Order: sequence, then structure tokens, then C-alpha cells
Amino acid sequence: MAVIEIKPDVYFVGAIHWDRQIFDELIPLPDGTSYNAYIVRGSEKTALIDTVDPEVQEQLLRNLRKLGVEKIDYIISNHAEQDHSGSIPKILELYPEAKVVTNSKCKAFLINLLLIPEDKFIEIKEGDELSLGNKTLRFIMTPWVHWPETMSTYLVEDRILFSCDFFGSHLATSVMLVDDNPKVVEDAKRYYAEIMMPFRNIIKKNIDKISKLDIDMIAPSHGPIYRKPEIIIDAYSDWISDAVKNEVVVPYVSMHGSTKKMVDHFIDALIERGMIVRTCNLTHADMGKMAMTLVEAATIVFATPMVLSGAHPAAVYAAFLTNALRPKLKFASMIGSYGWGGRMLDQIKSLISNLKVEFLDPVLIKGYPREDDFRKLDDLADRILTKHKEIGIA
Ligand code: FEO
Repeated sequence: MAVIEIKPDVYFVGAIHWDRQIFDELIPLPDGTSYNAYIVRGSEKTALIDTVDPEVQEQLLRNLRKLGVEKIDYIISNHAEQDHSGSIPKILELYPEAKVVTNSKCKAFLINLLLIPEDKFIEIKEGDELSLGNKTLRFIMTPWVHWPETMSTYLVEDRILFSCDFFGSHLATSVMLVDDNPKVVEDAKRYYAEIMMPFRNIIKKNIDKISKLDIDMIAPSHGPIYRKPEIIIDAYSDWISDAVKNEVVVPYVSMHGSTKKMVDHFIDALIERGMIVRTCNLTHADMGKMAMTLVEAATIVFATPMVLSGAHPAAVYAAFLTNALRPKLKFASMIGSYGWGGRMLDQIKSLISNLKVEFLDPVLIKGYPREDDFRKLDDLADRILTKHKEIGIA
């Protein structure tokens, strides 16, 4: 990736990972990703803000050569996860005079994860400033976006917030500066759903904190840089708010078609009652996409057949993941078919114990659905609509 000047003497020098397909061996990356690192050249000192994943560190080194960076005084480490910190040892090898500037928690992570010697650090805390001469870096603690040590760095004179994972998107693109681009916001929503959603309440505090700053540009550590910060801040404010939409998520799996027949009828019943339905077949679902459906929905209804004595393993995984992501769902239920019995209802209910949901009576039937079963599905759709009306979203 090329060097991109984003403001006078402020440069993107990161790496684009066009063909990365999975992150943390967990999260699918349909659009690749980038690891954004930035050079800030002050009149007296030069700072490198974050580094890149070691797998593509040659791009960072090439960019530093292209830019003619002969000396780095400070490596600002906003977050210790290795996709941003993993090339710090290489930078310290090439620029031995550089000091790693970060908070105490991040320092401890970096010592543990990367074996960086303690004497390489300058420790800062909330609100501290570091002068580069004519440019000043201010450090703002923004915990849990994504780890407990994560912070943001604000370049005071240029009004740039280097927010690390916060506001990021997994998107490999050559267009690194964006104004109003729905694709970037869509990818940022996916990123929020996969990474940030469990920390929704803490993110509210972080947004309150950064909202006090005069921000001209948000430069995250994944995906494009926002020249109109209000677009991504407003989107985040919607996602983290307590408001839910008149939406029902129906993740399903079916072995011989009985549960699928129920799902087809149930989805029609929900649509006919004016609700928006998001659904995915769990046997080949993109779980990142499923996570996105949970960002604003009011209700989830798991649909699964009985396998042996419990729910289908694909539904078990979906319930486990939903529980871990802690979306702001208000209601949950379950539909499905069984052959001779089992305990899938208790199993799914116990798997979603983190969710603050009211569990509505499920529709679990024996074998292939009959007319009476379809009426029960209609009744469940009615009950969901009533619940959505009670909370004022339908
Ligand atoms: Fe992009 Fe939490 O690292």
C-alpha cells in the first residue's frame, strides 16, 4: 500500500491485507482488512502511531523507507493486540532510539506478549500530552474497544483522533479517505457486531468522552479514515443505544425439512404482521453476518431440530455466540421439530443466560408440521407482535 498524506506531515503508512479471510481464527473477513499505522512528523520529533500485523510488516517498512523516515522518536501503542503491536519489535530493531509510549496496562500486555524490554517504554496516563514540537499528542483512555488497555490518541493541532479498533472496519480498499460511504459504514457495523457489541455500555462512556473533543477526522486502525466523523459517531450512537427495531432474527437449521417447513411458515407470518425478518441457514452461515442482524433486532427465534438429546450443534453454536455478543435483544423464543423427545429447550435457554430477554413460549412439535402446528406458529408471531407493540416499536 502506498503512503497517503492525510493532513500536512501526517501520513498513513500501514498495510492492506487484501486476501486475509479470517481474523482470530474466528471472524470471517469477506472484504479483507487493513492495519493502519500513521507517521506524525512534528518540527522536533517523529511519532509512529501503532504498527501492523507482522505477516504484512514489509508493507510498513517499505512505506517508512518511501517516506524517508530516518528517525522515530516515539512508537505510540494504542492497543496491544498483535495486529497493531506485532511489528513493534521490528521497528525497535530498525529504530533503536525509539521509545514505546503507552499506558501501564498496555505496557504490561506488550511486555508479556512481545517480550519488549521494560526500559523501552514511556508510560502515560489519561489526558497526558506529548509534544512533537509544533504538534501535540494527547492520550485518551478508551477501555474495551477492544481490550481493557485500549486507548485513543488525539492530535491536537490537526484535530485527528487515532481511535485504533474503535470505529474501525475490516475493509481492504485503496480508498483510505472517505466522506459518506455506506459500504464503509456497513463494514463498520459488521466490525461493531463482531468485536464491540459485548461492550456496548462501556462504549457509551467512551463516546461521551471523545464527543468533548473537536474532531476533524477519525483515523482508526482498520479500514478507511473518516473525514466526516459525525457519520460513524452517529452510527455508533444508534447501535449502542437501548432502542431496538421491529425486527426478528430467525437463525435456523433443518435436517430433513420439518423445521424448515416451520421456518418458512413462521417467516411469512412475521412478514404478514409487518415485522422485518433476518434469517440465516446455520449450516453455511457467515457468522459475522448473523452478528450484524443482532445489532438492532428486538427478537430472536432459534429454529432447530432435535439431534440425539439436544439442539442441533449449529444452533448450539449460534446460541453460544449470541450470548457472548450480548446484543440488546428484548425477546427470545424457539421453534423446531423432534422425533422422540429431548431437552433442547432447556439447553438453548441456558446457553443465552447473559441476554436480558423475556423468553416466549416456544413451538416444538413432533415430526412434520400439521395444520394445528402452523396455527401455533401464527400464535407465536402474534405474541411477538404484541410484545413489540408493548415496547412501542410496532
Ligand atoms: Fe485490531 Fe483488537 O485489534
